[in-house]
Amino acid sequence: MGMSFMVLVVTVSWFWSISTTCVLAAKQAYISPQQENQKLRFDQNGEFKILQVADMHYANGKNTLCLDVLPSQNISCSDLNTTAFIQRMILAEKPNLIVFTGDNIFGYDSSDSAKSMDAAFAPAVASNIPWVAVLGNHDQEGSLSREGVMKHIVGMKNTLSKLNPPEVRIIDGFGNYNLEVGGVQGTEFENKSVLNLYFLDSGDYSKVPTIPGYDWIKPSQQLWFKRTSAELRKVYIKGLVPQKEAAPGLAYFHIPLPEYANFDSSNFTGVKIEQDGNNGISSASVNSGFFTTLVEAGDVKAVFTGHDHINDFCGKLMDIQLCYAGGFGYHAYGKAGWSRRARVVVASLEKTDKGSWGGVKSIKSWKRLDDQQLTGIDGEVLWSKSFRENNGANQIGGN
Ligand SMILES: *[C@@H]1O[C@H](CO)[C@@H](O)[C@H](O)[C@H]1NC(C)=O
Ligand SMILES: *[C@@H]1O[C@H](CO)[C@@H](O)[C@H](O)[C@H]1NC(C)=O
Ligand SMILES: *[C@@H]1O[C@H](CO)[C@@H](O)[C@H](O)[C@H]1NC(C)=O
Ligand SMILES: *[C@@H]1O[C@H](CO)[C@@H](O)[C@H](O)[C@H]1NC(C)=O
Repeated sequence: MGMSFMVLVVTVSWFWSISTTCVLAAKQAYISPQQENQKLRFDQNGEFKILQVADMHYANGKNTLCLDVLPSQNISCSDLNTTAFIQRMILAEKPNLIVFTGDNIFGYDSSDSAKSMDAAFAPAVASNIPWVAVLGNHDQEGSLSREGVMKHIVGMKNTLSKLNPPEVRIIDGFGNYNLEVGGVQGTEFENKSVLNLYFLDSGDYSKVPTIPGYDWIKPSQQLWFKRTSAELRKVYIKGLVPQKEAAPGLAYFHIPLPEYANFDSSNFTGVKIEQDGNNGISSASVNSGFFTTLVEAGDVKAVFTGHDHINDFCGKLMDIQLCYAGGFGYHAYGKAGWSRRARVVVASLEKTDKGSWGGVKSIKSWKRLDDQQLTGIDGEVLWSKSFRENNGANQIGGN
């Protein structure tokens, strides 16, 4: 009895001292959501532009040769061509954020993973534009583990990448995080996240002996996504200028979802040249339900992946666009004569009644080819705010 009382007293005082310390530490380290939001926001023209770079497959620079280019292009073609392409894309598009969707380095051919990453991301770092990366299935094949690769990325200059969400104790993979994009400074939306970006680790290969093939997005990651999405929705529909719907979201990861196989040339924009996998889509051989989770959450309007270098389409299924960027890197397999490419996404804000900038009105996308003119192709509207949302329920009628 005395013993257990002692334990109780000790436990209670231990708990008290811990919680007091936590409160103090939390106060000192407290960063307001506004400060966090201000890292990314729409510019004064009411636009936010994202450049997606998929599958650089970077190794050792000038000694790493190109794959699948025309014989006439093969002379002095190396990783440095990948570097030159990023530099040209950044100059041409001046994006607000650069997203690298995995297989950033090709581990097998890299002599030092950290050096390969430093070289691969160098143009983004030098541009002073915020950039982020997620992992593919080849990033960990060199001198660093997946955790090691992601830690290295997180420590690099100008990146907003995170190792994992700090509020979650256990989550599969490395590099699951979200970013909020604030409305235009000086408007009522300046402290609201009007566009939400989700980044996930789609893994590498199945660790389950009875399931062959690529990895998938796990329940732990989906739970984190669901909670984050619900929290962001709650905040967006409350406070100053309360909104009816959640702010639109975009999700970026490496391996396409099995649902990418639901399209053909009659209902996608772009091409599908891949032959392998399920109908040309190299997703996991099982479906872990992330697409269903996205449809349920309702805020994500488009998903962007890489992995299949010679697929570059977007197709819409249940109001969600499923998009590839198309292969970017010259040390990645491709198709000779089919240009390396990158995807650009621009979100545009609507004007409010007061003539100020409001929430997101539309999300458009196009790709650019690595030819002399950086030719733009396949421009399309991925999503636009519906008539119904703009005008309220009283406008619904007719048949
Ligand atoms: C390109 O050049 C490299 C090295 O000279 C050679 O190994 C490779 O076969 C060439 N590829 C093509 C498509 O000509
Ligand atoms: C790679 O870069 C070299 C040097 O600038 C250039 O001569 C060559 O045409 C480029 N190759 C491709 C496929 O763009
Ligand atoms: C946004 O937050 C900043 C800092 O807290 C504050 O000064 C500003 O008034 C807020 N803007 C709006 C529109 O609420
Ligand atoms: C695309 O069209 C094909 C038939 O050409 C059909 O089987 C498929 O279900 C369609 N996909 C979507 C998402 O509508």
